[in-house]
Amino acid sequence: MTPFEAVTQADPYVYYAGLRQQSGLLFDPHLGVWIASSANAVDAVLRHPDCRVRPLNEPVPSAIAQSAAGRVFGRLMRMNEGARHLCAKMAIEPALAAVDPQGFAGIVSRVVEGLENPGDDLDELMFTLPVCVIASLIGIRSCQRREVARLTRDFVACLSPLSDDSQLGKANSAATRLSQVFSELLNNDAEASRLLSAVRNSDETHAWEDRDGLIANLIGLLSQTCEATAGLIGNSLVALQRLPELVETLRATPLLAAALVAEVARFDPAVQNTRRFVAKRCTIEGSVLEAGDSVLVLLASANRDPGANPDPDSFLLNRPERRTFGFGSGRHACPGRQLAMCIAAEAMLAWLHRQPAVSAPVYRWRYRPSLNGRIPQFEQDRRPQS
Ligand code: HEM
Repeated sequence: MTPFEAVTQADPYVYYAGLRQQSGLLFDPHLGVWIASSANAVDAVLRHPDCRVRPLNEPVPSAIAQSAAGRVFGRLMRMNEGARHLCAKMAIEPALAAVDPQGFAGIVSRVVEGLENPGDDLDELMFTLPVCVIASLIGIRSCQRREVARLTRDFVACLSPLSDDSQLGKANSAATRLSQVFSELLNNDAEASRLLSAVRNSDETHAWEDRDGLIANLIGLLSQTCEATAGLIGNSLVALQRLPELVETLRATPLLAAALVAEVARFDPAVQNTRRFVAKRCTIEGSVLEAGDSVLVLLASANRDPGANPDPDSFLLNRPERRTFGFGSGRHACPGRQLAMCIAAEAMLAWLHRQPAVSAPVYRWRYRPSLNGRIPQFEQDRRPQS
């Protein structure tokens, strides 16, 4: 197995444990990449100043470099270092951190109420809900949010090396249309949400003075939300299938939905790995990495490192001092973590609320093709239960 194949296996965690036993940071001669699998190595790579988010010679993947999707990609803080990263980060991160949790929970509930069938249509719950919530937070009108959610799903295809020409074409059209939607929003001061005003009024945005950069990073908030939060919701549903007693626990104490998604984010995370590219010769955990090397950073493996989380293979709602690497760490750590957890917890409650009191449905699932995202695709098992 390779770490890319592991992402969509039923249980990749035994394989990750084997890698950690060999070495927390090892070079795989077949794949030609370093693999960081221990908590210490993952954290060290993510925090290292010479480990960059993109290769120096390819800031934008060549397949999209000359396209609208590429122009958005090239401005995303997630895909940049230096000023382009910092300016966007310093404008957006404090604005997200200042979102009032109660007000946000209210937005999530209103969006849930507007979904057609969040109990049965798991695609709506996993993909449409999270993007609509963040779109609403940014100030997109309710009549436009579904279109924005659909476009965001099309756009994120440009982030995957598995996408074909037709998907890249749709990603391009989506980038163009999303840029238009946000441009109209920025022209209309009366509709600015509190979040958007906070981003626009931050000192950093003045230093930044780049409207295209702002638009790209607003699209970035939606694209970062889309598949990752779908995975967190989907993997929480998987946890309820594997541990059905948790369904009763949640029905009795709905407040535990937050603890459920927090443990799922550690135990079976949506983002299993990320990449770094070495810009300068450096030494990490005793190994010398050369400029031009690349590192596959196994976030999901670090979560199961007993040095970070004792008894890592047990699913514990009340796990003390949980350490979770699935939202990254260091300068590119996810600024949407709390919002994502809140959306996923509310999604679980919405799902539970719509299930019959006597028995929760039984699903079969497989994982959507991906090299880094663990996102289940469900089918309800309609066979009569014995
Ligand atoms: C379960 C849901 C989510 C997961 C698992 C997740 C995971 C991550 C990870 C692993 C990274 C770092 C990638 C790297 O360093 O290579 C990241 C970055 C980022 N995430 Fe999230 N994320 C989630 C939801 C969200 C949401 C809801 C938002 C926005 C509202 C968001 C916004 C961002 C942004 C803007 C970055 C780039 C940060 C930077 O480069 O400084 N994420 N996320």
